[in-house]
Amino acid sequence: MSQPVAKVSLTGIKPTGEPHLGNLIGAIRPALRLAEQYDSVYFIADYHALTTIRDPKLLRQYSRSVAAAWLAAGLDPQRTTFYVQSDVPEIFELNWILSCVTGKGLMNRAHAYKAARDRNLEAGEDPDAGVNMGLYNYPILMAVDILIMESDVVPVGRDQVQHVEYAADIAGSFNHIYGKSYSFKIPQAIVPEAGSGQTLPGLDGRKMSKSYDNTIPLFLPQNQLKKLVRRIPTDSTPVEDPKDPDSSAVFQILEQVAPQSAADVVADTRKRLEAGGMGWGELKNVLFEVLNTELAPMRARYEALLEPGSELDEALAEGARKARERAGRVLSSVRRAIGVG
Ligand code: ADP
Ligand code: TRP
Repeated sequence: MSQPVAKVSLTGIKPTGEPHLGNLIGAIRPALRLAEQYDSVYFIADYHALTTIRDPKLLRQYSRSVAAAWLAAGLDPQRTTFYVQSDVPEIFELNWILSCVTGKGLMNRAHAYKAARDRNLEAGEDPDAGVNMGLYNYPILMAVDILIMESDVVPVGRDQVQHVEYAADIAGSFNHIYGKSYSFKIPQAIVPEAGSGQTLPGLDGRKMSKSYDNTIPLFLPQNQLKKLVRRIPTDSTPVEDPKDPDSSAVFQILEQVAPQSAADVVADTRKRLEAGGMGWGELKNVLFEVLNTELAPMRARYEALLEPGSELDEALAEGARKARERAGRVLSSVRRAIGVG
């Protein structure tokens, strides 16, 4: 008897900045856990970043650094099909085909586009001011990413769930017309819970995010990491007073980022804060030590991967080859179904 075929888990990673701890906890680690059970397909969505990044050097730099970050965090390119979106031209052919079965009204209702319109209207501008067709068509390209790899599940942050629903919707439209000869699989979003189930706070206590400029980048040199941890604001509770660990951003970061092997350090720190006698400065030292122990080996691997001639380019070239093979199979069936080729 043949083995049952593993279900496909796919996600796209938009290279719009240097990866930070929130990305590690909320996206990279959950996706790596899924790779243990699924046929995993993960890619750098550089053409999605093009809707906002216009500096070619920066786009290239972010694409490489984000790819290196995932490999340094433990992605195994033998097990996971790992590629850069722009290396797979089949995606862009299917993009046109799926545009032709997608209602314009559906795109009008997409969150990102609607939010841009609302901002313009509020500012008394033309509703479409500054909106490019890339932003408008974004959900179709994302549907293609998902459908061309025959994805079953799509791990994403909450803000991307609508896009996965759109992919299911667009697949449904195609299947309704052409389903007798080819049907897309209907994908489903899954939203992984970060660390202990919350969003990782940033340096200012709000959600850690590039847009708030409050992140702890993953690969800072050790001395800069230390400085950044020192900068996390705390209140003026005296050292000897008891403290509530759960209302401290420093403790929350510690709890969510600490590996299993540091579980006793976290438990002990919680007790000492609650009992009084531990100051914020000491807590920050604990956080720095745990973070640095966790990140130092990743940092070394990341730096090696960014060197010219490292195995990064080779891994991505092999990933592109595997991705094109998968995409090519689906595209041939689709072309036959619609009456071209
Ligand atoms: P940013 O907010 O910094 O722009 P992105 O939107 O690029 O981050 O997020 C990429 C992925 O990382 C998403 O899956 C998102 O859910 C996850 N992520 C980002 N920040 C956090 C955070 N503070 N806590 C948990 N997950 C996060
Ligand atoms: N739009 C996603 C984001 O902004 C990135 C992305 C592109 C993606 N294509 C995808 C995610 C396909 C999941 C599946 O984060």
